[in-house]
Amino acid sequence: MANVTVIGAQWGDEGKGKLVDWLSNRADVVVRYQGGHNAGHTLVVGDQTYKLSLLPSGVVQGKLSVIGNGVVVDPWHLMSEIETLRGQGIAITPELLVVADNACLILPIHRDLDQAREKAAINKIGTTGRGIGPAYEDKVGRRAIRVADLADREALEAKIDRLLAHHTPLRRGLGLPEVDAAALLADLLAMAPRVLEYARPAWLLLDQQIKAGRRVLFEGAQGALLDVDHGTYPYVTSSNTVAGQAAAGSGLGPKGPGYVLGIVKAYTTRVGEGPFPTELFDDVGRHLGEVGREVGTVTGRSRRCGWFDAALVRQSVALNGIAGIALTKLDVLDGLPTLKICTGYTLDGAAIGYLPAGLRAQAALAPVYEEMEGWTQTTQGARSWKDLPANAVKYVRRIEELIGAPAALVSTSPQRDDTILMRDPFHD
Ligand code: GDP
Ligand code: IMO
Ligand code: MG
Repeated sequence: MANVTVIGAQWGDEGKGKLVDWLSNRADVVVRYQGGHNAGHTLVVGDQTYKLSLLPSGVVQGKLSVIGNGVVVDPWHLMSEIETLRGQGIAITPELLVVADNACLILPIHRDLDQAREKAAINKIGTTGRGIGPAYEDKVGRRAIRVADLADREALEAKIDRLLAHHTPLRRGLGLPEVDAAALLADLLAMAPRVLEYARPAWLLLDQQIKAGRRVLFEGAQGALLDVDHGTYPYVTSSNTVAGQAAAGSGLGPKGPGYVLGIVKAYTTRVGEGPFPTELFDDVGRHLGEVGREVGTVTGRSRRCGWFDAALVRQSVALNGIAGIALTKLDVLDGLPTLKICTGYTLDGAAIGYLPAGLRAQAALAPVYEEMEGWTQTTQGARSWKDLPANAVKYVRRIEELIGAPAALVSTSPQRDDTILMRDPFHD
């Protein structure tokens, strides 16, 4: 298959960045198609660590990198991330980075609104506070400023008026200071030339690249359980994170996404509020958090940790059309005497094999576990299937069985090359 789409199959932070970086080597173009700088993707290459939030992880390997129309772009953040990476020796030029001219912008008013709502306890989602939700609201509300508008002062003026007609009463209600339209216009115009350098019709570029036989790697952000339709609503992000979005969020037809590779952590984590049936509050939970270094890249919050939930991932396999998975962080389970896998739930005493849509039902699920023996040997840094202890192999095989998808890759440390390849997604 020519193209590969990488998606998070749980609640985010599965290790998408590491896998996208590793797979970039086999691709010609890397595309982000949803989310914004709420994402935090950590790549470790030798003694260098790269932290990406908005830029496609392909930039690190010097691949043509595209920020598609489905992404919400904070132009100030974009510039600072470009500068940070340049400071680490990564070349970023308009030949290597393209920002879709029809992508919508995140403005400071969106961040204000996001943060003010989070402070009002009744609305708390535990967002990253970066304005993602309010920016998507303005997009579907047809009042967003898009990248192309930055080249057109008149359009910008009219759009700012339209935007503020909506935001001014909201801000007043939240006790936020009034926004000065002239100052916002001046800030945007001052920023415009720096962003416009990278702005192009990304759909057209991708169409040309695909026709020329280039391989495209789509980089998902967040995870399927944070999808605005399919996730644990309302404790979700504000975009569709499922693989189908790769097409709409970059301007391709439905065959574009190709092979869907689900990134699956060998246990479960989530950041922010919301239901989490297999969450642990005991020593095992602390082990996963400490050994797995489960601290958010974007907000520095500790991630909540729990056992592997096969019911959730089985749902993700269906929602995304996952062809194979990359199982990450297997090494974090090293040394645990017993491992538990959630195979389904009970709800009010009855068995249920999936995450129901209702908020109360989601919160009331009791996990049903099966137990497996752990392993005492280390898997950390293993690069070959035959280096894995027998019980680790059993664990991976049981996961494959329960979720109904094969493991194409297994990751055994943060390092790029500590990766076991069983089947190549680009050739499957
Ligand atoms: P993403 O948001 O899906 O890209 O994931 P993050 O980068 O936010 O979180 C994954 C974290 O785990 C990062 O710190 C990675 O460096 C690290 N990581 C990725 N794969 C592995 C692995 O196989 N083992 C261990 N121990 N760490 C990993
Ligand atoms: P990556 O790409 C984990 C979570 C937030 C919050 C909810 C809504 O690194 O996997 P938002 O700011 O998007 O409106 O917050 O979604 N969230 C993530 N959790 N990984 C992410 O990205 C996330 N992006 C958003 O914690 O619960
Ligand atoms: Mg992350």
